[in-house]
Amino acid sequence: MSRLINVSNRLPVRIDSSGTAHRTTGGLASALEGAELEQEQLWIGWPGRAVEDFEDLGVVHNAMEVEGMRPVFLTAAEIDGFYEGYANSTLWPLLHYMVERASFSNAWWHAYQRANERFAEVIVKEAKDGDMVWIHDYHLFLLPSLLREKTDKDLRVGFFLHTPFCSSDLFRVLPERAEILRGLLGADVIAFHTYGYLRHFRSSLLRVLGLESDVEGVWHGGRQVRLGVYPIGHNHLGFQREMARDEFAELVEKHRRELNGKRLILNVERLDYTKGVPEKLAAMRRFLETTPDKRNEVVFVLIAVPSRQGVEEYDLLTEEVQQGVGAINGDFGRVGHAPVQFLHRGFPMKDLAALYTLAEICLVTPLRDGMNLVAKEFIDCQDADGCPGVLILSEFTGATEELAQALQVNPYDVDAVSDALNRALDMTEDERRARIAPMQSRVRSQHSGVWARRYLHDLASVPEREKQVVVADMKPLAEDVVEKWRAGDRVGLFLDYDGTLRDFVDVPDEAVPDPGLPQLLQALASHDRLSLTIVSGRAPQFLETHFGGLGITLVAEHGYRWFEADGEEWTLFNPHVDTTWKDLIRAQLEQASLLTPGTHVEEKQSAMVWHYRQADPEFGRWRARELLDELTQTAANLPVTVHHGQKIVEVSSLQVSKGLAVDALMTRQRNDVAFVAGDDQTDETMFALEPKGVDFYTVKVGKASTRARYRTDITGVRLFLETLREEVERIHA
Ligand code: UDP
Ligand code: G6P
Repeated sequence: MSRLINVSNRLPVRIDSSGTAHRTTGGLASALEGAELEQEQLWIGWPGRAVEDFEDLGVVHNAMEVEGMRPVFLTAAEIDGFYEGYANSTLWPLLHYMVERASFSNAWWHAYQRANERFAEVIVKEAKDGDMVWIHDYHLFLLPSLLREKTDKDLRVGFFLHTPFCSSDLFRVLPERAEILRGLLGADVIAFHTYGYLRHFRSSLLRVLGLESDVEGVWHGGRQVRLGVYPIGHNHLGFQREMARDEFAELVEKHRRELNGKRLILNVERLDYTKGVPEKLAAMRRFLETTPDKRNEVVFVLIAVPSRQGVEEYDLLTEEVQQGVGAINGDFGRVGHAPVQFLHRGFPMKDLAALYTLAEICLVTPLRDGMNLVAKEFIDCQDADGCPGVLILSEFTGATEELAQALQVNPYDVDAVSDALNRALDMTEDERRARIAPMQSRVRSQHSGVWARRYLHDLASVPEREKQVVVADMKPLAEDVVEKWRAGDRVGLFLDYDGTLRDFVDVPDEAVPDPGLPQLLQALASHDRLSLTIVSGRAPQFLETHFGGLGITLVAEHGYRWFEADGEEWTLFNPHVDTTWKDLIRAQLEQASLLTPGTHVEEKQSAMVWHYRQADPEFGRWRARELLDELTQTAANLPVTVHHGQKIVEVSSLQVSKGLAVDALMTRQRNDVAFVAGDDQTDETMFALEPKGVDFYTVKVGKASTRARYRTDITGVRLFLETLREEVERIHA
């Protein structure tokens, strides 16, 4: 089993100046700590304080070594810019949809870049071939790509986002949005808690980088980056262990006595503005105002763990909450009873477990939360067969999808939360049991260990780097072809045009060849035993204008017609092609074009194409999907094939293909060696050929999946052709 290197900014422990380790708070650390994986592990992260504050770094190293960890040291200035600044004052609010709380600073961004570099350096030093590196959370968005740049080691690199991913309209606000996305795309598997976050990420890829993806993944840099949804679970084993201890019953009793007969409404969270504490206080106040009969029965225990102190938004929040609690207790307290007990500190797991057990209601009302583990921990610790407590859960947490039987509330709706409290207190035992049973079996079976193993299983199945990409070195490939030519072989070069010899542009007629290209192709084609064919989807007119009279064979309209190098006119490959289906298809494409601004229909001899390059990217893609569904039905009994290409949907005759054309030409030219390059789905028909007795080179240009043997980009194709020309001319000279 490969070794796992976990990488996170926050580790499950922080080290103090004397080298003692203390448990930390937060969903990431608590879930991972509970994953209890069997494989060998190393954890790399920040020890929790500035490097200047440690007297002896050796002591820190040793303390971390004991915990199976390696430190990434950060200076006070780096913590200021990277952790408090970019991570927690820019990314955190933005990812939680709170753009108005986000601040932007160039200096923070630079600190963020540097800190990610720092993490990368430590990982590169520690990692060995075959390791899995699992990177966690928004502090380290740049790390996946940095690792790819900095090492050739065979590592599987995973990324998990523990926060929400906001809608692309908000994400686009981020000045460094493109760099962040590119940073992430260095990973092999990028994962989120919910499908909604994944969807937002995909639309950001499309809108920011123009990258199309599907639910499973996205092609980038010649690799498939997989995308996935893995809702995190809580530390079930840890909580169950605490509850099984002999002293546990005693601890529960102790807390029960403290409650003094009051019904416990429990709140547990880091003191973070995403958790909606002021809104919750407003709901408590409303509840106390409107239910005088229950007012004296209940106590709200508010465990609010100090978090990110020093970040302004957090400091202001602490003051606001303290005042809010004081005001409620002032208005509704009595001698010997304060309705809200504000506990501004962290508690160990055993106390949390005892309080979760005792709570009649757990009030989880974040304004936005990636998952929320407190909700799951509460459900786990309850006695489902007795008179279980009730979970009140905000709609805006990732956990909502899994905990459908909770009383779900809109945390901004003070009346609704207050009503839910009232309803929960009045709920019958039968209803409580019926609600909790399915949730408890779910959280127990999908705990953090199960979550981690599922993710790591998928990460492990990513093919090794070498096997995954056959990125061709185009110069030696050209030299190889020249060698064969020199030995007397007849070489045929078959090249697609758009996306292979020339980049796409918005207006197809503007994608004219650069001045050097026609000469280069002409020079190549002028040699004996070397023939060159452009195999394009374009109409004859375009090809003739730019490549006519150069001694090149032209194949237009995906193999419908051709113009031989020394020929006189365009000829049909197959004069009996049936095109009567076009009327039917035309109507459908024109309808799509009417409904989608920025799209148009192109009619070719043996094909009809709907172009959506100039449409809104997301709307265009959505409409393309719809159209594909419709066309697949219409086309079922027609002699056509339907395909989704680069911003086009194309319906073309089955009797015509680039593959059929190239097959015919190879025979005609009696090629011993053939070199085929193309970027599009239609080029796959060429790659799929298996010509007998021909040395067949197939090269895919771009990132999509392919049957071709090699992969390169437009520059690579050009390099190939130029090398070929140089070598051939050198031999001739
Ligand atoms: N927690 C803790 N001690 C406390 C309060 C909370 O250990 O005093 C833990 C809690 O058990 C949970 C985590 O902190 O596992 C909070 O995770 P959650 O996903 O609810 O929120 P996050 O802090 O990650 O935003
Ligand atoms: C959330 C984040 C974690 C973070 C935790 C505690 O759970 O997703 O990455 O560790 O909050 O925050 P802190 O800033 O103390 O690490």
